[in-house]
Amino acid sequence: MIFRQFTKQDRAVWGSQTVKLQHMLHEHPLFQDDALKTLIDDYPRSHYNVNTMSQPGAPRAFWREGEKGDATGAEVFEAIEKGRMWINLRKVMDVDERYAELLDEMFDEMRLNVPGFETFKRNMGILVSSPGAQVYYHCDIPGQSLWQVKGRKRVYLYPNTAPFLPEPEIEKVILGETEEEIHYEPWFDNYAEVIELAPGEMLHWPLNAPHRVENLDMLNISITTEHYTKDVRTQYAVRYANGVLRSRLGLQNLSPRIDGPMVYPKMALAAAFKFGGLQKARAMKRMVDFRIAKDAPEGLVDIPEYAL
Ligand SMILES: [Fe+2]
Repeated sequence: MIFRQFTKQDRAVWGSQTVKLQHMLHEHPLFQDDALKTLIDDYPRSHYNVNTMSQPGAPRAFWREGEKGDATGAEVFEAIEKGRMWINLRKVMDVDERYAELLDEMFDEMRLNVPGFETFKRNMGILVSSPGAQVYYHCDIPGQSLWQVKGRKRVYLYPNTAPFLPEPEIEKVILGETEEEIHYEPWFDNYAEVIELAPGEMLHWPLNAPHRVENLDMLNISITTEHYTKDVRTQYAVRYANGVLRSRLGLQNLSPRIDGPMVYPKMALAAAFKFGGLQKARAMKRMVDFRIAKDAPEGLVDIPEYAL
């Protein structure tokens, strides 16, 4: 069992409104501190990011990319507890089979509750983050859910339409011409849903809804899941094509609709560019310049930078 309860009302608005549900993963053996520390011990370099960021409310957003070096999982926890950073364990289902099985179980139970919720390209990440850590305003391309395991965080969710998410901006994210961060104004908060998430609670929000997250004053452990459905994939292709038409031909007023006569030509155009290699995503090189160090005042030390 993953969910404590899944009501008719939750089912009715799944995908179109923000849904907050009670789950039981915070009690699951795979998400207890010791299990996660052991997981981190041998987590492959190719599958994690360590990042530090500015404090909430700081005038400028900034990021740094780091490494855990030879720190053990227990030492990573200790450093994160005293710093302002996180470790993001990506594609956990590819690293450890037990999490892959659990991920299937989670989506099976969602489909059981929401008939027709057929998903593929499912993904699980685990985020261990510091007191006061934050995730800047951004949108994600696949369907998203956030499952809280430990600590509390405040999630700000914004409408998935302009001015919060102008079409040209999400097209750029899809084309890989920018990172997931998009333009943010503090007044957007007047239109945000602000939801505090406690252990045993999860959120599923409308596709691409921009969001930002602030941890409260304690260590946080959260799970992120991603998925595609046929509609998500079509939406991706339509916006991909719109982005190509906008940037190469200067077209305006491109519809993101996933029905109507333009959908198939757009899907074909997107496929031609994406798989024909016509659109070369500018690979963004990240430079690693710090290492986790549990005994340092902020849990990290600077190292000579190198490309990840
Ligand atoms: Fe996100």
